[in-house]
Amino acid sequence: MENKQKVQNLINLRDKAKLGGGEKRIASQHAKGKFTARERIHMLLDEGSFEELDMFVTHRCNNFGLEKEKYLGDGVVIGHGTIDGRSVYVFAQDFTIFGGSLSETMALKICKVMDMAMKMGAPIIGINDSGGARIQEGVTALAGYAEIFERNILASGVIPQISAIFGPCAGGAVYSPALTDFVLMTEQNSYMFVTGPKVVKSVTGEDISVEDLGGADVHARKSGVSHFRVADEQTGLQKIRDLISYLPQNNLEEAPIEECADPIDRLEDALNDIIPNNPNVPYDMKKVIGGIVDNSEFLEVHKDYARNIIVGFGRFNGISTGIVANQPNFLAGILDCDSSRKAARFVRFCDAFNIPILTLVDVPGFLPGSGQEYAGIIIHGAKLMFAFGEATVPKVTITLRKSYGGAHDVMSSKQLRGDFNYAWPTAEIAVMGAGGAIEVLEGRTLSKMENAEEKAIYISQKVNEYQEKFANPYQAASYGYIDDIIEPRNTRFRIIRAFQALQTKKVLNPLKKHSNIPL
Ligand code: HXC
Repeated sequence: MENKQKVQNLINLRDKAKLGGGEKRIASQHAKGKFTARERIHMLLDEGSFEELDMFVTHRCNNFGLEKEKYLGDGVVIGHGTIDGRSVYVFAQDFTIFGGSLSETMALKICKVMDMAMKMGAPIIGINDSGGARIQEGVTALAGYAEIFERNILASGVIPQISAIFGPCAGGAVYSPALTDFVLMTEQNSYMFVTGPKVVKSVTGEDISVEDLGGADVHARKSGVSHFRVADEQTGLQKIRDLISYLPQNNLEEAPIEECADPIDRLEDALNDIIPNNPNVPYDMKKVIGGIVDNSEFLEVHKDYARNIIVGFGRFNGISTGIVANQPNFLAGILDCDSSRKAARFVRFCDAFNIPILTLVDVPGFLPGSGQEYAGIIIHGAKLMFAFGEATVPKVTITLRKSYGGAHDVMSSKQLRGDFNYAWPTAEIAVMGAGGAIEVLEGRTLSKMENAEEKAIYISQKVNEYQEKFANPYQAASYGYIDDIIEPRNTRFRIIRAFQALQTKKVLNPLKKHSNIPL
């Protein structure tokens, strides 16, 4: 073969590889409203930045006549490129080749790109669209999954790992995304479950659709498996780009600092009036967040799950910051099992990746009742306490209104190594709310009172007395548990100042193999 022909041959092979499982299957993918693996990667990365690797890898299986059906690249496209000029590593399963099912060689490709991401200290993004283990390969596919899982585990806390689910993700395959930091699902075509509807029916008799079992809505709202639910793939890929902009490349670096045109001393007058006079009336914590972060930009994580707590990323003077905030607008912002788990995982992510944490507190306590106790509120609440207490990144806490009981301690209190703990003058820091406290303290007196009107007057007097004494931040400030009481409209400036002061913070936890967080 002449050299010219060799070059032409390469061009032809590349073109063939880019067709994956062929035009018919690409058309079928498009007909489902889905993009192909390469189309997705091109939408995700900066234009022209993608360098594909292992395009000539083919499977090695000789079972069931598979040796006669080989596709260049096998069922996954891997490589690297950039997002806003910063390096990332990517793999995208190609559904047009054996339904993106995982073969031994596919696993090798995925592991290769994961190893490179670890070696180079860059985020890894996986786009999942697969029928699971390649049935014809048997146990080698299972081993391949386990190789991937192990790499997910070792990369955890070292490089950011993000999973997009743009098709089926079933069986043990779900555990790779589950081991990553963020999972994103599209409203259509995206589903995750350990066992599909047919197996569910045969084992438990339950009749359930794919969507109801493991669709985007289920995992965004009920299970919390997914952190982002998006309308379509394009929106999802843009969301990943946004997310990456808040993250460092790895655990030894800081997140990029953005140019900030929003004045650092901007006064947000509306915050002086945001807390209702009646402590039982809710308000929207997202308005507070929007009022204090740079340009009102907030990337909310787990938006639809455990909405009584808000977590997500914002910037203060261009510095990426993780925000954890009770949401009085939903279940009064109470802490329960789900919200504790949600916030704990987020705090640990921020701590692992050197992202400072701002905590906004308005929490009436832990949700009481047998439902929560049986579900393990003790262990789940302990997770959040553990996460805040273990975190060594800069931590600024602002108490806006209620901060009661155990929940007060948990929400990044001074004693859990909060660096700057400020309160608004509207804060109420106490062992419990006035109503509950009076029930306990005055129980004996009240039980002797027969006249209902007299009883009500007595309760109201005692509640007022209690509120006068405890429904304020001054007692906590007098002990130094609150570093300062600040004017609400000046909150943005005080936060920026605090984080500025904390830039040189150095705290090390005692040396150990690893902690034993109450899982
Ligand atoms: C080999 C597979 C495959 C698989 C799909 N294909 N899944 N080939 N192994 N696991 C092939 C199909 O034969 C078909 O080939 C092409 O991919 C597209 O599949 P369709 O069925 O035509 O597509 P669709 O109707 O969209 O259905 C998609 C699907 C379905 C729901 C994913 O294919 C399906 O149920 N597949 C099997 C899923 C499964 O049970 N996997 C094993 C899970 S157990 P042609 O040639 O027609 O294009 C597992 C264990 C992992 O994964 C454990 C890890 C620890």
